Amino acid sequence: MKELLRAREALKAIEGKLHKVAERSRGIIPYTTFDGHFDDTSKNSICWWTNGFFSGMMWQMYHYTGEKLYRELAEDIEKKLDENFMLPWGMDHDSGFKWLPTAVAHCKVDWNEKSFNRGLIAAENLAGRFNPNGSFIRAWNDSGDGSRAGTVIIDCMMNLPLLYWASDVTKDPRFSQIATRHADMAMKYFIRENGSAIHIGIFDPNSGEFLRSEGGQGYGVGSSWTRGQAWALYGFTLSALYTGEQKYLDTAKRVADNFILQMAKRPDTGIPIDFDQPFDCKREDSSAAAIAACGLLELGKFDEKYSEAALDILEFLIENRLSLDEDKDYLLWNCADSFWSNREQMTLIYADYFLLEALLKLIDKDLPIFTPDKEAKI
Ligand code: GLY
Repeated sequence: MKELLRAREALKAIEGKLHKVAERSRGIIPYTTFDGHFDDTSKNSICWWTNGFFSGMMWQMYHYTGEKLYRELAEDIEKKLDENFMLPWGMDHDSGFKWLPTAVAHCKVDWNEKSFNRGLIAAENLAGRFNPNGSFIRAWNDSGDGSRAGTVIIDCMMNLPLLYWASDVTKDPRFSQIATRHADMAMKYFIRENGSAIHIGIFDPNSGEFLRSEGGQGYGVGSSWTRGQAWALYGFTLSALYTGEQKYLDTAKRVADNFILQMAKRPDTGIPIDFDQPFDCKREDSSAAAIAACGLLELGKFDEKYSEAALDILEFLIENRLSLDEDKDYLLWNCADSFWSNREQMTLIYADYFLLEALLKLIDKDLPIFTPDKEAKI
């Protein structure tokens, strides 16, 4: 298949580039680039939600190539993140994003007690954010006034694999019970009739009543922020793979069907930042594209049409949005942290992580960091 061949070629070129990037990136935790060069987010915030992704890239590359350099960088980031455990305001719903691609990935490659403990501490903390009345995992923190106690976001679907992992390794079902209760809640309140997802849901934290949805990084209230759609698409797919529950697979397919329908409305461009942004607004988010491609590839194991959609996305990214310039640290460009951000055409480390994961999935060489180790239960 033409697209597969192209993906293999791209991966080869990425392999050469990433070795050089890794050599000059010791000791940092990148989030984005300035003039093509990585920042070091650990200097500003050791708690930032994306701090696991460069480590995830390094573990993927170590798993793929066996090169020690990658492993050294990943282990360094994992140790640095220990500081986050001691900063309570920096422990939030994004523990999965931070400790799956660091401590848990390390355990999967090479089991060790310290990484195992880090993964469990992170999972215990995430489970502790569960509100039994509303059946949701609380999102962000507040100053202690409870103003965000009922705030929930669709992105959190991607943190649930940390809980599934914790149940798997401890044989204690509490973690996955919390994960499935959150997923059931998200299915009910976050997925609209047409398969699109809301970004933020506000609940009464005492009664558990759903109060309203809010806009966040997308175009507005009621719109379809594409990265949120991608988190939902991949997130429900992962819950289906971990639990074997048909209802999560059906939900993932509904979200994916809507994603594909919306993509078709804007042929010849990348994924917009929001499917509801005006058609003459050409701003894109390549991170949403890469995340969706990962979810679609997993869904493709159940229906080939999803693999074809993933290949279309990856072909577009490889041909139009991938930098193979070895002097630049990033892979994908034209990403957006938010529709309302004043930074245009950003690079984002998680866009690069999910592109790499998707390309490795294509040749069945990915380390299962977000996905389960074993064969899918479905
Ligand atoms: N989880 C935050 C974001 O996707 O920007």
